[in-house]
Amino acid sequence: MSPVSTFAAPKGVPDYAPPASAAFLAVRDGLTRQARLAGYSHVELPIFEDTALFARGVGESTDVVSKEMYTFADRGDRSVTLRPEGTAGVVRAVIEHSLDRQQLPVKLSYAGPFFRYERPQAGRYRQLQQVGVEAIGVDDPALDAEVIAIADAGFRSLGLTGFRLELTSLGDDSDRPAYRALLQEFLAGLDLDEATRERARLNPLRVLDDKRPQVREMTAGAPLALDHLTPANAEHFAAVRRHLDALEVPYVVNPRMVRGLDYYTKTTFEFVHDGLGAQSGIGGGGRYDGLMASLGGQPLSGIGFGLGVDRTMLALAAEGVAVGETTRVDVFGVPLGEDALAALVPVAGALRASGVRVDLAYGGRGLKGAMKAADRSGARFALVLGDRDLEAGVVGLKDLGTGEQLEIALDSAVERVRAALRG
Ligand code: HAM
Repeated sequence: MSPVSTFAAPKGVPDYAPPASAAFLAVRDGLTRQARLAGYSHVELPIFEDTALFARGVGESTDVVSKEMYTFADRGDRSVTLRPEGTAGVVRAVIEHSLDRQQLPVKLSYAGPFFRYERPQAGRYRQLQQVGVEAIGVDDPALDAEVIAIADAGFRSLGLTGFRLELTSLGDDSDRPAYRALLQEFLAGLDLDEATRERARLNPLRVLDDKRPQVREMTAGAPLALDHLTPANAEHFAAVRRHLDALEVPYVVNPRMVRGLDYYTKTTFEFVHDGLGAQSGIGGGGRYDGLMASLGGQPLSGIGFGLGVDRTMLALAAEGVAVGETTRVDVFGVPLGEDALAALVPVAGALRASGVRVDLAYGGRGLKGAMKAADRSGARFALVLGDRDLEAGVVGLKDLGTGEQLEIALDSAVERVRAALRG
């Protein structure tokens, strides 16, 4: 009887084992590459932070903070939280390390896991992976367009085509209070249940994101932030659109977009993929011009995005696009016997030291099994070494494509293999 495994990964947490792990790396690195091309430097941040950072940064009334955080007291009785998103941590680090005293904008990118205690379903995980960028300190619509274009180029560089970019502007302190009052007045006239009424009082924008059909119907005629921008904010949004047009980044304006985090101001955007069912957002972001100040820093603006690596992988699969190369080697060693293995181990070491990818048949496999392993490895050449070869100081160099084999001196194997790989 085969042993039964009693452990599984935690509920709602994906594993990426080979071959899926190759696609994971290709997506993560492909999205990150676009940020590098635009001058963003990597930042590596803690997986957990002071709980208050997220409560203040992301917003107490958001689902992310009020329902989804992995919060616990550590052994020193401090309340810490597994990061649910990246922006608050980046802004905290910018302030802490005075990065905003250098040239602006501060341009940072990151990749890694985030944690949200959501109800797991296809494309909605409790540990999710994002690639993100943040550009802090310059309030220029051209920078908004740059950030958006990096995300767009990232998805396209992976071969993804079936997505659309949705864009809107939420205004800021200069127009939001008046709009908020207007929206609250509208919502007060509706026949809403008690909980929704309370939400309308605390965070009226969130009511526009209610998925229930009867609420959607009632709010269909609600006033929209985009229609109530100050002239300066309207011009900022128009300029973002002009830059996106010049960059040939297609978009649709969706004035009903509601982002799940409270720090957003002005330009906000989402990348939506139609092949994913309910969890269709493959990335999103926007401006957060008040966040630096609210976390105790200088009153500097910011803009960024978070792209979902897991959902991008699902979107690629939905489109039938394969990305990522499974691990393969250049050379596979086939030792026939222990002495032969002992002789091939240092050859493999020397080849690896010169940058050649090498694997070996371990465990005393016979010729047939070892040759099968060599074929599976994707190697171009096999080094076949038997006892008699060893005595004669030679080794067989087999071209696994053509099946041709020639004998080469064991002590020149490294140079000969390297020359063969160049040829
Ligand atoms: P977000 O929209 O909450 O934004 O998340 C960004 C992306 O992460 C989503 O579009 C989605 O692809 C992915 N994602 C979120 N939750 C899950 C989940 N439970 N399972 C799988 N994927 C998920 C932020 O996090 C902001 N920090 C983005 C940002 C950066 N805004 C400005 N700068």
